Amino acid sequence: MLIALRIALYIQVLLGLGRFFGLVPNQRIWETHISLGVIIAFLALLALGPHPRLRPDPMRTAARFMPLVTLLWGLAMWQDLLVGQTMTMIHMLLGLISVGLVERAAAQQKRALQGR
Ligand code: HEM
Repeated sequence: MLIALRIALYIQVLLGLGRFFGLVPNQRIWETHISLGVIIAFLALLALGPHPRLRPDPMRTAARFMPLVTLLWGLAMWQDLLVGQTMTMIHMLLGLISVGLVERAAAQQKRALQGR
């Protein structure tokens, strides 16, 4: 599940950066960013929950919820509750922080479960 989450996040980065730089004009393709966003937030909640073999870790909890925060921010942009370039840039930053946190949590889980 973690690998699916990571792949989906990288597709999301490509779509987001592509859109920002005007490379994704097709609305159908762009709307994938919203549906993929919902899938990502859901996968993160499932995949990064408490694990019996891992010590509780606030950074893992941050990784679990940051995609949801990014999604809610994005949905508020979509509904025109947050408007302007600055809001989009904050959204992009939240998205990239999500990628970093999920990568960290995935690596940490892998190391811990390998017993290193
Ligand atoms: C957890 C990851 C992410 C989620 C859940 C997410 C979700 C969303 C949602 C729901 C929207 C509103 C859609 C719309 O306005 O049509 C949006 C817009 C946007 N997202 Fe993301 N996003 C994520 C990551 C990223 C990343 C990493 C980037 C770029 C680095 C990015 C760039 C953008 C841009 C540029 C827009 C606005 C596009 C426009 O208004 O034309 N997103 N995102």
